[in-house]
Amino acid sequence: MNPSLEKPSPRYQVVIVGGGPSGLLLGSLLHGAGIDALIVEARSPDYVLGRIRAGVLEQGTVDVLTQAGVDARLRAEGLPHDGFALCVDGEVLRIDLNGLTGGKTVTVYGQTEVTRDLMDQRSRFGAASIYEAADVAIGDIDTPHPFVTFVKDGVTHRVSCDIVVGCDGFHGVSRRTVADKGLNTFERTYPFGWLGILADVPPCSHELIYVAHKRGFALCSMRSPHRSRYYIQCDLSDDVRNWSDDRFWDELRRRVGPAVADDVVTGPSIEKSIAPLRSFVAEPLCFGRLFLVGDAAHIVPPTGAKGLNLAVSDVHYLGSALREFFLERSSTGIDHYSARALDRIWKAERFSWSMTTLLHRFDSYTPFEQRMQRAEFALLQSSQAARAVMAENYVGLPL
Ligand code: FAD
Ligand code: DHB
Repeated sequence: MNPSLEKPSPRYQVVIVGGGPSGLLLGSLLHGAGIDALIVEARSPDYVLGRIRAGVLEQGTVDVLTQAGVDARLRAEGLPHDGFALCVDGEVLRIDLNGLTGGKTVTVYGQTEVTRDLMDQRSRFGAASIYEAADVAIGDIDTPHPFVTFVKDGVTHRVSCDIVVGCDGFHGVSRRTVADKGLNTFERTYPFGWLGILADVPPCSHELIYVAHKRGFALCSMRSPHRSRYYIQCDLSDDVRNWSDDRFWDELRRRVGPAVADDVVTGPSIEKSIAPLRSFVAEPLCFGRLFLVGDAAHIVPPTGAKGLNLAVSDVHYLGSALREFFLERSSTGIDHYSARALDRIWKAERFSWSMTTLLHRFDSYTPFEQRMQRAEFALLQSSQAARAVMAENYVGLPL
């Protein structure tokens, strides 16, 4: 069916493009402040919930989820972690997060669960969301009355608002909308990917283990005491169809070494996928009445678990700026959003890049660069100050 003529829709104070974790969390914070926001999402709820991604939440992320009132299940089911292990060429070093940061921890709780909690809360609130919206477009961002158009069930809708927030991930429309409006981008790609597997087997260790091995990186993580998440570094050109479950478990066991391999419980995978690694930042994050948030504005390689946490800190900054804008009629917060968020974004980019560089096998590395990797690990082994810097970044810099 051809889209019919535009259908006038109710006006909203905010239209949020993208209903992933950033969009849903911002929607929740705005609802709590009495600011009405519409979420426009390209996919179905099941599709959004089916993406297996992040697993580690910083304390600041837990605090923002608490402020949003979606912490009940997280507190009941989330697993607090006091530390994690680095295993480099067979040598193990524990990073004591709790001891090195004056009592801070991280919480293992899947992004899927965070998203489900936010979706459930949104339906309880009866707040408006449009799923499976096609051809989403954003206009008039240089005026006080921007709009968003989309096609739903063959009908084109046009929604006017005061503010548009782009929470639509790396491949969304928001950043594209401002590509020729003075957007600067900074990028590094890495010559490998992560092959991830989810399986209903107990984790091999009660803490996460990051492994650097001559065959490549591996990560032992989890979602619950009965569900494990493992990753191994793979070629960018590789295909999941080349990886039977048996091949994956064999390769993982080789990389983690004999002591840990004995504790790896294998079982059928319930999800298997390959993700490329990328560092990316777009600047600035504000274009007139359009604001970029989360993966729409920046990507980190997953080593160190910063992506979702960074999206949450953007939401925290923009949420308070929008409260000031709508409730106190002050634009100070939104004027400073971009600089404030970028300051934290660049520090998380640095940390994720340094963890990636420390722990992966780079085929192009010269012997000098290989020695630098070893020296970096040796410094961590010998210097509490170096471990404290790693721990401080891992638990999350202050919001
Ligand atoms: P997204 O989750 O990408 O959501 C964007 C939403 O916008 C999607 O629902 C999409 O369908 C929708 N959308 C796209 N285009 C449009 C459009 N044109 N119109 C409307 N809607 C649109 N982070 C961590 O913090 N810790 C981890 O342990 C971690 N592990 C990871 C492991 C892997 C394998 C991967 C791939 C990522 C990991 N991340 C991790 C990163 C984390 O998943 C992302 O940073 C997070 O999903 C960002 O949330 P977001 O809402 O900004 O973007
Ligand atoms: C997970 C992913 C990460 O990138 C990480 O550093 C830790 C855990 C995970 O998916 O469990």
